Parts: sequence; structure tokens; C-alpha cells
Amino acid sequence: MQTEDSVKSPEGKEGLESQSRRSFLKMMMVFAVGAAAIGTMRGGIQSLARLPPQALNTFPSLTLVNSSGAPIKTADIPINSALGVLFPYPLTNEPNFLLRLGDKTGKDVAVTPQKVSIPDTGGSFLSPGGVGPYKSVVAASAICQHAGCLFPQLRFYPPTSSSYPGLIQCGCHGSQYDPYKGFSVVSTPARSPLPNVALSYDVTTDTYQAVGMIGPVIFNHSNDLSGGTAAKSSTSTVTEQSA
Ligand code: FES
Repeated sequence: MQTEDSVKSPEGKEGLESQSRRSFLKMMMVFAVGAAAIGTMRGGIQSLARLPPQALNTFPSLTLVNSSGAPIKTADIPINSALGVLFPYPLTNEPNFLLRLGDKTGKDVAVTPQKVSIPDTGGSFLSPGGVGPYKSVVAASAICQHAGCLFPQLRFYPPTSSSYPGLIQCGCHGSQYDPYKGFSVVSTPARSPLPNVALSYDVTTDTYQAVGMIGPVIFNHSNDLSGGTAAKSSTSTVTEQSA
């Protein structure tokens, strides 16, 4: 009758040690292959992380600059300009007005924070008001909340204008918004204010940053941070467009 020892006996003690070494070497090979695979996966993840982002997880802080890349100063922002002074934020396909609001004499008007109603939902939000040395610089989406018309159909009319004085009016279907009152809806068919851009002002350098969106979601977006391409730098270029 064969015992367990007799089955192993042809290889003897040396044979068992040889088997153990082979098992150990196999185990090490498996470990090495596994480690290499994990290394490859990590390399892949790092490669993916280097791809340009198509959406954002959070609102970026973008310094507003001119076409030469120099930060915009207060004196660079025209008061009551009917030009389209626009910058993209938070994604590159989301244009916004940059307005320095004044009165009929061209003197800066301080815009106070205020509650703004959203007729479409019955809700409201707190508009941040103006920033800058005179609290007169405000910004908001330049995409009409009714059906998405852009500048120059959607444009600001200075307080001295004979039509729509001090309002943003959309030539597509007649919606009107009041930038002195948080870009609230003055006239339908739009039923939602223009989403406000939160601006930060650095008094020491006299420069401006866009740091977030407040109020309703930008037109035709499920949220403000997706549906476009993220900026590849920490700046947003302000351009002036004529009607
Ligand atoms: S798209 Fe502006 S009023 Fe219709």
C-alpha cells in the first residue's frame, strides 16, 4: 500500500525543495506581472489626467485680461458702453457682459446687492451687486434666457438711449433685463434673469477676477460647468464688439 511518503519518495527531500522553489518563483512572477499591470494602469490614469478638461468640477478663478494678456483695470472698462464688452466664463462657449454702470451724466452708479426673483420657478437669489472702486462693475451671462440669442441682438442700452434706457434688451423677441437690479426680468417672454457672474476685485492691483455664477443656470446648459470646453489658462480675455 502506498503511503503519502511513498508517493513523494521518488523525488525525495531535494525534489520537494525543488518544487517549493518553483512555486516560490511562480508566485514572484505573478506578483511581478501584477505590479507591472498596476504600473501600466497608473500610467494610463496619469495620461488621462493630462488630457484637456471638457468640463469643470468647480468654478475657476479667472483674471480678466485684454487681448494682449494684461489684466483689465477699472479705467479700461468704458462707462455705459453700448459695445459688447464680453468675456467667456466659466466655459469657453459661455459669453458674459462686463458692464461698468453709470447714470445719465456718465458718473459711476454703485449697484447694491439685492434679492432677484426668478419668475420661472417662483424662487429668488441674492445678486452680489457691483465691485470695483465705485461698486459699479457687474457681469452676467450674455445669452438670452428665452431662446439663447446673443450680442448684438441681446445688448445694453445706455441710460441716455432713447429706447430701453439703462436696460439690456433682446431684439429677437423683446425680453428686457435690468443690470442695475441684478439683471432681473423687466419684460417677457424671458422668465428667468440673466445668470450673474460673481466678480472679485483686488483693490491693491485694480484688477478683476470672475469667480463663480449666481442665480439660474446658463441658457441651454444642464449646469454651468458642463456643455463646453474649460479654459486652458487662468485668464479670460475681454473683447469689445460693435453692434
Ligand atoms: S431669445 Fe431673447 S427674447 Fe427670445
